[in-house]
Parts: sequence; C-alpha cells; structure tokens
Amino acid sequence: MKQSAKQDEYDLAYHIRPPKGLLNDPNGLIQYKGVYHVFYQWNQQDTTHQTKSWGHVSSKDLIHWETHPPALEPVDWFDRNGCYSGSAVEADGKLYLFYTGNVRGEDGSRTSYQCMAVSEDGVHFEKKGPLFEQPPGYTGHVRDPKVWQDAEGIWWMILGAQREDLSGDCIVYHSQNLIDWDYDGPLIVERPKLGYMWECPDLCLFAEKDIFVFSPQGMDVLGDEFQNFYQTGYITGQFKANGKFEWDKESVFKELDRGFEFYAPQTFIDDTGRRILLGWLGVMDPAVEAAVPTRKDGWLHALTFPREIIMEEGRLKQRPVKEIAQMRKPVSIASQSSTTQTIVLPSLQSELQIQWKEAAEEMKLEIRKAVQIAYSSADQRLIVSRTNWLSKEIEERAVHLQNGLHSLQLLIESSLLELFINDGEEVFSLRYFVEDENEKNIKWAETAIDSRETTLYQLDL
Ligand code: FRU
Repeated sequence: MKQSAKQDEYDLAYHIRPPKGLLNDPNGLIQYKGVYHVFYQWNQQDTTHQTKSWGHVSSKDLIHWETHPPALEPVDWFDRNGCYSGSAVEADGKLYLFYTGNVRGEDGSRTSYQCMAVSEDGVHFEKKGPLFEQPPGYTGHVRDPKVWQDAEGIWWMILGAQREDLSGDCIVYHSQNLIDWDYDGPLIVERPKLGYMWECPDLCLFAEKDIFVFSPQGMDVLGDEFQNFYQTGYITGQFKANGKFEWDKESVFKELDRGFEFYAPQTFIDDTGRRILLGWLGVMDPAVEAAVPTRKDGWLHALTFPREIIMEEGRLKQRPVKEIAQMRKPVSIASQSSTTQTIVLPSLQSELQIQWKEAAEEMKLEIRKAVQIAYSSADQRLIVSRTNWLSKEIEERAVHLQNGLHSLQLLIESSLLELFINDGEEVFSLRYFVEDENEKNIKWAETAIDSRETTLYQLDL
C-alpha cells in the first residue's frame, strides 16, 4: 500500500505494509459501521521487534486503505513493553479491542495482562486496563485474545498459552458483558502435543465443521511440512457450548499456507457473512529477517491480501476476496504455440490465472527470474522455489496435490507473491527480491500445450 512519500523498488500497492518500521501480526480485524478496520503489530521506531503499538488502517472495499493514528501505544504500566496482539468486537455501537499488555521485569521475567480498550468512533481508543489475572499452571506466555459472541449472546475469549511444563496450549474464558470473565480451562481436553507455545489462536465456526487455527512455535520438520521458522495451521472439530473444542482426532494439523513466511493470521466475519483472513508475511529466522532488502528503505514485512475462507465439501478453501475484480484490467496474451512461452508482465501489480481443461502434466513457470513454480503429474508434487536473500541458495516448499493440478491463480506485486492452487485448496505466499527491477518476464514451459486457458490482468488501484 502506497503510504511512503518516496516509492521504493519493493513497494507494495494492494498489500498492507507499514509506512516505516516493522509490521507483524494483523490485529483487531472487524467491519465496524460498514468500514473495514485492520490493526497490526507495529514498531514505529525501527525495523526490529521492539515496543509494539497497534498500527491502524481502514477501508470501504479492502483495496484502498486510509491510515489512522496508532490505536494503542505501549505507555501504561500494564503494557509498557508492548501492546501485543488481539482482536476487536462491536457491542452497543462501540468498538472494543482486546489485546495483551506485555511487561518485562528487570530480571528478564515476563507478565502478560489481557486488556481492553474502547472507541466510539473507531479511531480514538480509551484503554480500560487489565481484565483478569491469569490462571495457575501457565508461564508468562499467555497472549493474543480472540473474542467473539455466540448466537446466545455469550462472549468467548481464547488465548494462546504456554503451560509450566513448557508445552503449547489454548485457554478459554466467557463473559456476559465483556468486563467480567469466567475461566473455562483449556480449549481442548486431550490436545495435540505441538511445540512449546501456541500463538494467535482463532476459531472458525462453519456449518459443516469448525476449525481451530493456531500458530505453534517449536515444531519439528516433517517431510515437506513445517519447514518454516514457526508454523501456522489448523485442526478440525467442533466448538461446544461448554467452551470445549472437540477435536476430530483423525484430523492432523494442516498448514494453512505452504509458503515461506506466513504466520499469525486472524479471521473475522463481515457484514455479508463472509469469513475473511489476513496473515502476516514475515516470520523468519532473525538473521534472514535482518537481511530483508526493504530494511534499507526503512520498512519491513507485509500482510497477505484479504482471503475469503470457506469450508466446501469438507475441505477448507481460501480465495482472494472478490473485491480484487475491481482492480482487474485484462491484458491480451498470445496463445501458446510451442512448449515454451514468455509473458511480459504489464505491471508489477498483476494477476495471472491458468485453468487446465483436464489437469496439468508437466509444467514450469519462472517469475521475474526470482521464483519458480514446478509441477509434475508423475508424483503430483508442486514445488515453489526462490533464492534466499541471505544465503543466496535456492530454497523450496512443496505440496502433494492428491487430485492433480487444475488451476493456478497468481497475485503478483513487486516483492510479494500469493499463489492459489485448485481454486484455493492450497496456497503459497512469499516475499521475493529480484536482482533486476526491470525484469518483468514470466517464462513458462509445459509438455501439453493446448489444454488450458490463461488470463492476465494488470491490477490498478
Ligand atoms: C506473533 C506474536 C504474538 C504477540 C506478537 C508480539 O507473531 O509473537 O504472539 O502477541 O507477535 O508482537
């Protein structure tokens, strides 16, 4: 999003980025009085993970964003080392934010306060301070309140937590009035043992089945999976009226996004009933983070484009919100007459859609000499690779496509890519940094040449 006066080569037009400083998790996602609000973890001072405030932008269409003053600043005794992640709800016409106040002791200890702030205009917030003391059995790592109201009017809050035995967990509270909260214990009775801390929990309640989304830290690599610095994924089950998530134990923890740095997503339901998700594209090894080229321009990281998430025939699907259509300007491309083809991107904000009539056999796509997408029907594996900007080595992420490859939808920005596969069955998102900013080619090689439809759009704001 163009917030900086001077445009830099890695600037983003339709993805939210900080004007300066470091952005991490999306926070407080809500449509309030018709307007979409996105808050985000923001270090305004520099591109390190210090003193987080809540940055704030709003939009009528999820495309054009207006910048507001920071909604929360870490200036009080209960949040002096950071206004950490949280969520938003509307009640009695007011906008309520729930967040974690992070307080560090001189001895390095950590205390977390679950706090509330209220606004009548969606721009100015009054802090109300901590709501309750945390339950016994947990370390100082209890954070990221996600609050919602059920059909009976009960407010629920789930929190990411670490048990004293240093395992990840999620705990639950409920309230009648958003002020007084009763503790209900852990969300899952026999929870999966994944990592030493669970961050940013979220529950997505669908008619068919529910999913519990969370970001565990400390998982081991398992084949193509869990290769990122920290993970984000979900398990399926059902959220019950007693505040427990009955986990469908056959369902394994599945990554939400197969790319390189997706983390800490949050969802909300808008006025049309859609569940929309935004995630942070920035979780990475600190050395790799320190080498991200945008730091020279004084900013770091971005959010994904808003995705609608749906449950369709038992499968979770993610698709860019339909508002993307208002940016599309069709660009004609020559039909492919040999097994290789070069498409020149009309702009660094583009979208490419490929639809196979049957299914792809062998194909390879190279984007701006920086990112490769390869698929072979022989092993049904789709591989996305890029050059790591620190090690200069090729790194890859891959997924097995059980039913083959039928469609690709690529959202392209100057330094960010989102790839939606098979109508949103799998998603890869990533940052990439080109050697030559004038390189605008997509090179494509495929064994079968006339079994598909290709559409190219320039995306104009
Ligand atoms: C996830 C996270 C949250 C925390 C926030 C602090 O990226 O670590 O758990 O609230 O970032 O910025």
